Amino acid sequence: MSAGSAVAVAHPSLALVKYWGKRDGGVNIPATSSVAVTLGALTTRTTVRLGPAASPDRIVLDGREQPAERYRPFFDAVREAIGDSPSFIAESTNDFPTAAGLASSASGFAALATACLAAAGVPIDRARSSRLARIGSGSAARAVYPGFTVWRAGAESAAPLAGADHWSAFRVIVVPVATGPKAVSSRDAMNATRATSPYYRAWVDSHEELAERSIAAIAERDLEALGPVMRLSYARMFGSMLGADPPIRYWRPETLAVLDAVDALRREGVAAWETMDAGPQVKVVTTTDDVATVVARLRPLAAMEPIVSAVGDGATIVEPA
Ligand code: PMV
Repeated sequence: MSAGSAVAVAHPSLALVKYWGKRDGGVNIPATSSVAVTLGALTTRTTVRLGPAASPDRIVLDGREQPAERYRPFFDAVREAIGDSPSFIAESTNDFPTAAGLASSASGFAALATACLAAAGVPIDRARSSRLARIGSGSAARAVYPGFTVWRAGAESAAPLAGADHWSAFRVIVVPVATGPKAVSSRDAMNATRATSPYYRAWVDSHEELAERSIAAIAERDLEALGPVMRLSYARMFGSMLGADPPIRYWRPETLAVLDAVDALRREGVAAWETMDAGPQVKVVTTTDDVATVVARLRPLAAMEPIVSAVGDGATIVEPA
């Protein structure tokens, strides 16, 4: 592609152990360490062109022009990082529903940061893309890396833990139970939890241990050790939200039906462990041995066909089609 433009692809980052809450002293500095996997089956593709200085930045997502204010801190951070002041014209498409709570902001800002740096002619350094992507969306800091990732409490960028080929049998089944936009953004929900929930401190204080246990379980490729830690992380995250004033509750009746079905599968000896994010959808971690059984059981409870993903690659520059 000509100088001054670039195309990048990236995949969402699913936290197995959650980032929930921000520290003071920077944009999206996490209060808790998170441990995540990059989901190869879902892809965001973003084209960036440099425009004249002092022109407005523009971003079109799945054909819709996005409000510029949401992106301003991100684009300003890119201009500062490259030491130049072009405007950015970006066009992005997701091959999965944006508003269904499938972490599109993670892949979106990972692809956008990577494409902006490449369009500006800056060599791609993932730690730098991670730092910039974080300004747009915290979880995007992890999505620039392939495989399994860690983002430490207080850190400005995430780091790789293990590559995409580390655990080849690992599968995530995304089970959408509701489509349509969520009522409260993760940003607003995190801030409200921190400001009003008496359980927030307990959440933060109890979480580091879970991050360490999940890292050890991933190193051993041990789903029976990882699963209970994942469950504690998401359950305690929602516990902290339920303590907010007013309480934040993303779960729907359909969510509980899926959680019950996953419990039942485990009682039958199937290795399946769920997690959830700031929305009603459920993501189930399993392995190639059990994926067909889990999909068959959960499909009737889903609002859309479940999406099965292996461990994916990090954000990369691609040639235009
Ligand atoms: O960075 P955001 O605004 O997409 O927030 C992510 C929050 C969770 O998905 C709930 C947890 C996580 O670590 O991804």
